[in-house]
Amino acid sequence: MTQEEMFKEIRRLAEERDALLLAHNYQRDEIQAVADITGDSLALSLEAARTERKVIVFCGVHFMAESAAILAPEKIVLLPRPDAGCPMADMVTVEGLREMKARLPGRPVVTYVNSSAVVKAESDICCTSANAVKVVNSLDADEVILVPDRNLGRYIAANTDKKCHFWEGYCPTHDRLAVEEVKQALAEHPDALFMAHPECTPEILALAHHICSTTGMYGFAKSNPAKKFIVGTEAGILYRLRLENPDKEFILPSRRLICPNMKLTALEDVLKSLQTLSPRVTVPDEVREKARVALERMLAIPRD
Ligand code: 13P
Ligand code: SF4
Repeated sequence: MTQEEMFKEIRRLAEERDALLLAHNYQRDEIQAVADITGDSLALSLEAARTERKVIVFCGVHFMAESAAILAPEKIVLLPRPDAGCPMADMVTVEGLREMKARLPGRPVVTYVNSSAVVKAESDICCTSANAVKVVNSLDADEVILVPDRNLGRYIAANTDKKCHFWEGYCPTHDRLAVEEVKQALAEHPDALFMAHPECTPEILALAHHICSTTGMYGFAKSNPAKKFIVGTEAGILYRLRLENPDKEFILPSRRLICPNMKLTALEDVLKSLQTLSPRVTVPDEVREKARVALERMLAIPRD
């Protein structure tokens, strides 16, 4: 089958199955092109919760499909590549989090959505890179526990008066971006603005003109009159940045800004998933109910 034939067949089957195709901003170009909706973790969770379609095909990683299954339990949630995980989400275990809570009693646990359903179920409220500071500031507490990303945690700590206790997890893709790589890109393109995702290290964020989620980057690139941007996040974001801003230039400061898990899903996998209505992601009821509370508390906070 050619790529064009596969595109047509995926769209035909999506119609027939009453399926909504969601793709994260880091997915391969062709997956973003065939999807109904592309977005960041928060936007896609909201779409999953609000859609009336029976089936959700989540082109992303496991925790995202789990979030969809938590918010929309009556729907069939498919993850075309069941092996697409998130190393950062895997850095925290329920046992470890329980130990941390026992050491730091009374502090609410704010958990990044990049985490498993069982860890969300052990948390008070979730956050994403788009709303993390707002979520923390909304809490009636002087101290908080932030899980699992130490980089997002330090970014939050720099923007709140609350005392923050961090879980020492990190995203290998963002964490490996080196200061020298960004400095070199800035030296080569002195007229460019550097936008960085809060999963990058504090040293990288110190060099950024703008710090935001992936969706925040689309807005910043569009509204800012600058013509050149250095992009401190996963390479998949370039697809839409270039599509929406054909007159602007987007530069990746490193060739290592690639998340292997985000790149696993291919058109063949999406097609097979629609044909077989598998692999399906479900969350056991007792976990789902607790995790849903943490997610819904976050969703109740208005988005900027
Ligand atoms: P978001 O902008 O969706 O938070 O992207 C960060 C990420 O690493 C998703 O895996
Ligand atoms: Fe996880 Fe990082 Fe990949 Fe996102 S980019 S899925 S946080 S490893």
